[in-house]
Amino acid sequence: MLARIFACEVIGLEGIIVEVEVDTTQGLPGMVIVGLPDAAVQEARERVRSAVKNSGCVFPQRRLTVNMAPADLKKEGPSYDLPLAVALLAASEQVPLIEPTQLFLGELSLDGSVRHTAGVLPMVGVAVERGIRQVFVPRDDAPEARLIEGAEVYPVGTLGELVDHLRGERRISPFEQLATADLDEPVFAHDMSHVRGQEHVKRALEVAAAGGHNILMTGPPGAGKTLLARTTPSILPRLTRAEALEVTRIYSVAGMLPSDTPLATQRPFRAPHHTISHAGLVGGGRFPRPGEISLAHRGVLFLDEMPEFGQAGLEVLRQPLEDGIITISRAQGSVTFPAKFILIGAMNPCPCGYYGDTTRPCTCSESAVSKYQRRLSGPLLDRIDIHVEVPRVEYEKLAGEKQAETSAVVRARVEAARQVQQRRLQGTKIACNSEMGPAEVRKHCVLTPPAQQLVKAAMQQLGLSARAYHRVLKLARTIADLAGAAEIGPAHIAEALQYRPPIRG
Ligand SMILES: Nc1ncnc2c1ncn2[C@@H]1O[C@H](COP(=O)(O)OP(=O)(O)OP(=O)(O)O)[C@@H](O)[C@H]1O
Ligand SMILES: [Mg+2]
Repeated sequence: MLARIFACEVIGLEGIIVEVEVDTTQGLPGMVIVGLPDAAVQEARERVRSAVKNSGCVFPQRRLTVNMAPADLKKEGPSYDLPLAVALLAASEQVPLIEPTQLFLGELSLDGSVRHTAGVLPMVGVAVERGIRQVFVPRDDAPEARLIEGAEVYPVGTLGELVDHLRGERRISPFEQLATADLDEPVFAHDMSHVRGQEHVKRALEVAAAGGHNILMTGPPGAGKTLLARTTPSILPRLTRAEALEVTRIYSVAGMLPSDTPLATQRPFRAPHHTISHAGLVGGGRFPRPGEISLAHRGVLFLDEMPEFGQAGLEVLRQPLEDGIITISRAQGSVTFPAKFILIGAMNPCPCGYYGDTTRPCTCSESAVSKYQRRLSGPLLDRIDIHVEVPRVEYEKLAGEKQAETSAVVRARVEAARQVQQRRLQGTKIACNSEMGPAEVRKHCVLTPPAQQLVKAAMQQLGLSARAYHRVLKLARTIADLAGAAEIGPAHIAEALQYRPPIRG
């Protein structure tokens, strides 16, 4: 008897429908899988055998041939366990034949329970697009599957439950509850008002958030760099629904969605430690999973103690910083994950940390200082628009009573500035000022005559390169947008000039 069933595979962030056929024939009992199965799918045989036996069914004592199509796609990953089990139960007439409007996915335990499986969101997404609306997914992943409009989601706890359902003995009720994501009232662990003093750093972070600019903070130990960076999620513009779904898809494939509240409601803030592996940072693995830089998509990637990440770790950031994507090459062709984030870096100015500090002498040699600073390569520094020094806070400011601005107030300004940019850049692929190329800069960065004079003088006196010139204009655009100004004035240019990188020794 021949049984056909739909299963699914994820490559990168895309789901691909796979057809599984099982045929039972006379001959020596055994199971052969053809159609380019990966070793992980071969392993499924053993899991399926145990799960079937432990679910009150019989593993057929006949010859089983399994074919997976399309034949040119390498089948990998553990989501095939459940469809394989169902198909062979159908082929051996233990459950009725399966409708072509049904999709099954999930990893099986030996005892027959169905385990949380990564990538449910893109898999259910592609199924519904193809008109396969009834999806049987692991119980834990039902809320995630329900995010796809038009999906009829059946949460499966065990293979036994599913068998009862298919036989019509005890129906599984469809998962109804729509995940209600509250995109309006985010709660944050760190608020900008908790940070005393450092007004100019807060301002720089506000500009970074408003225009999507990368920022590097340099300062002595204990000045508050880490604390300041951790307040940034609270001033970022809220996620739109489209962005929330994008972020959710990445976390789905990473297998990192919380099952109770699957839809992302906040912009990600990722702070990997500098000892992280290459695959952990950029993504990869046997079934390529997104790394930290993709988990930071639409949010912040915070690299604390940035020089410690080393040359190799930092060089891989160049492609994502330039194109907003990361390409991972592997034996079966490359996969691409999105990686568009605001980079926030923090570092000490030298190995001991006190170079340039007013109260404590630096114990490093000049050569040690410059060697340390050179760990960040020129091309990388070029992609960081804002450079800001974070000096130690004086006692008066730390102990002072002065109430600082809350993040909510700052965020309101950031969101207003983003709206101006969205209107201006409508119809392009560019979302914010930092992404403008030379053509957009020429079109949108209109300077008043005094501002033109100031830029000209700065170019000559500071010896700014063409690239630095563009960087200043983009930053000035964001600063003018925060001020609600249509044209860029001299004050905007002057502030933008302050954020240029220091001359490194
Ligand atoms: N401006 C500030 N307002 C309030 N508390 C502060 C401020 N700066 C530092 N602190 C306090 O000092 C602690 C250390 O600050 P933080 O870890 O941010 O320093 P850092 O600049 O990252 O130092 P390091 O270079 O050693 O990493 C903070 O957790 C906070 O309690
Ligand atoms: Mg720190």
